[in-house]
Amino acid sequence: MRGKGSCVSQEILRAEGLRKTFPGVVALDGVDLSLRTGEVHVLLGENGAGKSTLIKILSGAYHPDGGRVLMDSRQVHIRSAGDAQRLGIATIYQEFNLVPQLTVAENLALGRPPRRFGFVDVRRMEQQAGRLLERVGVDVDPRTPTARLGIARMQMVEIAKALALDARVLIMDEPTAVLTTSEVARLFAIVRQLRDEGVAVVFITHHLEEIAEIGGRVTVLRDGRSVAEVPANTRRDELVGLMVGRPIDQQYPRRPAERGEPLLEVRGLTRRGVFDDVSFEVRAGEVVGMAGLVGAGRTEVARALFGADRYDAGQVFVRGRPLPPGDVHAAMEAGLGLVPEDRKAQGLVLGADVAENLGLVTMRDATRAGFVDRPGLRRTAAKVAEQLGIRMTGLSQEVRTLSGGNQQKVVIGKWLAANANVLILDEPTRGVDVGAKVEIYQLVNALTAAGDAVLMISSDLPEVLGMSDRILVMARGRLVGELPAAEATQDAVMALATTETSHVR
Ligand SMILES: Nc1ncnc2c1ncn2[C@@H]1O[C@H](COP(=O)(O)OP(=O)(O)OP(=O)(O)O)[C@@H](O)[C@H]1O
Ligand SMILES: [Mg+2]
Repeated sequence: MRGKGSCVSQEILRAEGLRKTFPGVVALDGVDLSLRTGEVHVLLGENGAGKSTLIKILSGAYHPDGGRVLMDSRQVHIRSAGDAQRLGIATIYQEFNLVPQLTVAENLALGRPPRRFGFVDVRRMEQQAGRLLERVGVDVDPRTPTARLGIARMQMVEIAKALALDARVLIMDEPTAVLTTSEVARLFAIVRQLRDEGVAVVFITHHLEEIAEIGGRVTVLRDGRSVAEVPANTRRDELVGLMVGRPIDQQYPRRPAERGEPLLEVRGLTRRGVFDDVSFEVRAGEVVGMAGLVGAGRTEVARALFGADRYDAGQVFVRGRPLPPGDVHAAMEAGLGLVPEDRKAQGLVLGADVAENLGLVTMRDATRAGFVDRPGLRRTAAKVAEQLGIRMTGLSQEVRTLSGGNQQKVVIGKWLAANANVLILDEPTRGVDVGAKVEIYQLVNALTAAGDAVLMISSDLPEVLGMSDRILVMARGRLVGELPAAEATQDAVMALATTETSHVR
């Protein structure tokens, strides 16, 4: 009985007193959740509060140690992903679930590709994929190998995959974390349409401004407990209070520091077809923001200047000394650090523990020097973990089992531990809760106060505006403008970011 207007809102799913423990940690300690047809229900909570654990129980990935789940007022046992699917529950996980080796069409058909005479009907599979991709408004050839998509387009494919299941309950774990403004708008349009068709949508986000825009009710989790259920128009500071347990008075606490020598200079950096003639500098004490649309070339410039990718022309200087191109080790030795946007693929060793990950950069130096000072590494790791408020059972917890936001803190911590003087942060607060964001900003302040330089790439415009001393704007592989913080507004940045320039060749 889908279709606009045909659904009187009624409870479709109910979780009561859910409990889940992992070795050393109680992830859920009595969680209730009530979902109605035709509502968008937001799950809110700090990093590690238990949001992902809750939805993994609803999607059959985890089994609860206590409590129960009812659907249509009857108790159900969701023992596997297959069970969830049969019950009409589809989930978009925080960690991507696409198989990188397969094409987009194969990922979208996963498990049940159309067949003809017993063989997979590739043409039909690609046509079906094409229709799904069109529905989410993403311009991708279904034959593209998934590994080649950027992180934002991968997310749109994940969403298309969940739509294919035609679910009654659709769960989205931080779907907007990796999307840009226009993609978020597109996603919201899809979510509203599903809601109006009677689907119950569970929506996890750390972007509080999204709640009023999309949400109906909000369930707040704190330390594994559901502490409140409130309407989406609840005041922001009230939501923060429920979530964090204390008020946060300043969202962007930038304290300008004294500007010193240029620490990083980029001159005429060019990679054919990707970016062209990019020049800028970052001085000691400065936070330079880099804004632009997805595909503008910001990440590519960052990776190239760090030596992770090649470039065709131009030069990079750190403290006035030229860096050899394509040499990450030389860059790190010179004091450069890069916190990448794709933490899973580039930032972490998931199977190693927190201490090892925090020591990754330093360890290399230590090993080179001929010995590894393990107790020293652990002491540094402990200090950094404390500074960043990393929520863990201890330094020996596997990074794989940390919550998403806490993994992000480990990636940043790795470079703090390494004492980089020029830190390039690519989307540093993606997936990080409001309280922890402020902690990261305060660290940025502490770094610049100590004379370090920070280049901050971010698609979160309020963040770039709130935390930068100057803002560089890129469009289509070119640096199209620079704005001092005092003159920068969202409109001014967007006007530059959408500048009509021919794409670099
Ligand atoms: N497989 C696991 N093994 C051990 N501990 C785990 C496992 N999965 C989750 N945890 C722990 O359970 C707690 C809740 O984690 P969860 O991922 O549910 O948080 P979250 O609310 O989704 O946070 P975030 O906003 O950072 O994504 C955390 O302390 C986490 O370390
Ligand atoms: Mg999570």
